[in-house]
Amino acid sequence: MMAMAHPKLALRPYLADDAALILEIFRASVMDLTGDDYTEAQQQAWAAAADDAAAFAKRMGNQLTLVASLEGSPIGFASLATGGKIDMLYVHPAAVGQGVAAMLIDAIEKLANARKIEMLIVDASDTASGFFQKRGYVAQQRNTVTVGDEWLANTTMHKQLSPKPEAS
Ligand code: ACO
Repeated sequence: MMAMAHPKLALRPYLADDAALILEIFRASVMDLTGDDYTEAQQQAWAAAADDAAAFAKRMGNQLTLVASLEGSPIGFASLATGGKIDMLYVHPAAVGQGVAAMLIDAIEKLANARKIEMLIVDASDTASGFFQKRGYVAQQRNTVTVGDEWLANTTMHKQLSPKPEAS
């Protein structure tokens, strides 16, 4: 019997050529993974952010966006916007529960540390808030945002990365 190599998870920066696959991951992730927390109408409104492919690609390109791949195929992505804001974190439904999001957010935190960003902020979906809580993010406030014709709830969470300077 031939031994199977362990599937290889890897991270790399987002490239313009990734746009179409990243859009598909976003849509599939929203539509397949968030149904316990949001209605179908809310999911449709959320996924519609990908309808303007050029605007979505521009958003990814303007941020520090990392792509996770399995055997070279993209399976998830995360992005860091200005002000230490984690803007996006989406994993393909076929790849959840394998540590992909953890790997992406570990890398985002290391990059943020290297850039001397002291605090990361995320408006976490109700689907992702447990993930962020487990990684040390603390809930600050609940929000309700309009997306298309729908209202969606999320939670602003913070994580302190570097120690605060001692008060003198
Ligand atoms: N609640 C509690 N714990 C969780 C959750 C959760 N919802 N999701 C993952 N975890 C835990 C896992 O059990 C695992 O724990 P372990 O380290 O003890 O084994 C750990 O967190 C790491 O999990 P991963 O496997 O890395 O997470 P995964 O790759 O499955 O991705 C994610 C999690 C990103 C939330 C995924 O389910 C997803 O894409 N959801 C839909 C889209 C979404 O809501 N994205 C966030 C939008 S908000 C934003 O982008 C800023």
